[in-house]
Amino acid sequence: MIVSSHVAENAGPLYTRLAAWGQEHVLRWWSDLAPRQRHQLVRQIEAIDLELVQRVCQQSESSAVGQTPPPQAIRPAGAIPLAASAAEAEDQEQIAQRGRQALRAGQVAVVLVAGGQGTRLGHAGPKGTFPIGPVSGKSLFQLHAEKVLALGRQYDVRVPLYVMTSPDNDAASRDFFADHACFGLDQDQVVFFRQGTMPALDRQTGRLLLDAKHRIATSPNGHGGVVKALVDGGHLDDMHRQRVEYIFYYQVDNPLVKVADPTFLGHHLRAEAEMSLKVVRKLRPEEKLGVVVEVDGHLQMIEYSDLPAEVAQRRLPDGGLEIWTGSIAVHIFNVSFLRRLAAGGTTLPYHQALKNVPYLNQQGRRVTPEEPNAVKCEMFVFDALPLARHALVVETDRREEFEPLKNAIGENSPETVRQAMSDLYAGWLDRAGVQVTRQRGGSVAFPLEISPLLDLNRMDIRARLSERTPVNGPMLLEKRNGTGVTITTTVKAESEETC
Ligand code: UTP
Repeated sequence: MIVSSHVAENAGPLYTRLAAWGQEHVLRWWSDLAPRQRHQLVRQIEAIDLELVQRVCQQSESSAVGQTPPPQAIRPAGAIPLAASAAEAEDQEQIAQRGRQALRAGQVAVVLVAGGQGTRLGHAGPKGTFPIGPVSGKSLFQLHAEKVLALGRQYDVRVPLYVMTSPDNDAASRDFFADHACFGLDQDQVVFFRQGTMPALDRQTGRLLLDAKHRIATSPNGHGGVVKALVDGGHLDDMHRQRVEYIFYYQVDNPLVKVADPTFLGHHLRAEAEMSLKVVRKLRPEEKLGVVVEVDGHLQMIEYSDLPAEVAQRRLPDGGLEIWTGSIAVHIFNVSFLRRLAAGGTTLPYHQALKNVPYLNQQGRRVTPEEPNAVKCEMFVFDALPLARHALVVETDRREEFEPLKNAIGENSPETVRQAMSDLYAGWLDRAGVQVTRQRGGSVAFPLEISPLLDLNRMDIRARLSERTPVNGPMLLEKRNGTGVTITTTVKAESEETC
């Protein structure tokens, strides 16, 4: 026995409860703890659903509840393709009108999930605070908030922004918004809500790991925790009361997202879907993107790591990938759909992942493992897909909407994200009739940035920009002081002019 009888007596019912689940070892250092630390540990233990932990632990180690379907059962998901002709573009414009109506009627809320740990990026602070603007250095949070602000101005409506945080980054995220006056949004327009956590389990024994003598190692319960967190915080009911019918959901790490894209909303409305998601064409079979597929007539997501290689490599007669529908984690949920799941007690399943989790060893020393030693348990938001009565998949152009910030270097790093942003803005300038110098291959060789608050369709801006074409150096188009537009033509803001 690793916990002394003295501790068992002292910790009383808590000990009994833990012992019933074989987890009493977390009291091992009880005698060493100060009263405040004991109190902290007790509160943490009380918040853990030990039965759930046991159940999740008994699942197969590789993945979620249930199995990856057999290769022959996996079919491509039907998706609404990008407009390929002027007539189709015209049709999409009609569809976008329906989305705009929903926005104008205040039926849309934006939910941004930002509770992840951002381990791969390794930024000190919440990922949303990372300075990503290619010229301005604006943070991810600022870019997202300004897009919401721009929506409000465009549709003359107050679009609520719900930001999901986790216990570790909640205070820092809130402070960041507060320090920047919510980036122009009203304070009560931004609603923070915290997702839950799950304890990390020892990979061999399924036992809880200690992070300190008075603390169990935990991590956020995955982006799928958004459903429970919205329910528990009463936010779905609030939305319902405020006649919000649609949630536009996206992740903090992708600054290219067209927030509350009216065309996407329009497709969702026309199809009377309960959940919709955007996909891009996978570049290669092994690209690390989850894919939407059809199995037995139902849509579902398969993580890239679970997609059998033979399925990932299947080709169509034209040489394209058969399973091409890579999810970019941009969704629409009907509020009524999520409320129905909540009312029926439906919860999303937990998936397991092997991770390196620092822990306290039997001698009370903190160990940072070099190999995965622990199982982390997470819910994935896309597991709501098969639960929807009707779901829709809509294709988007990756260059316009997808380059997530995941890593410190290499792919999906600050460098690739800033490049993708500059290329996107160059495309906008092209469309506004402003010529931009390109490298061979089509990308721009200098940083470009256009504020989300700027309406490039304004003739005075177009005229002013046309005067300086071709654009062949760094440029920031920013909106200042309500109406003025500042064009900054060097990164260090040496040359500014306002029109
Ligand atoms: P990722 O799975 O890429 O994780 O999250 P991450 O935290 O950003 O980075 P790593 O894996 O630790 O390096 C995708 C999105 O889902 C959110 C993240 O904030 C990000 O926007 N997320 C993830 C949550 O909100 N909560 C979670 O528990 C996990």
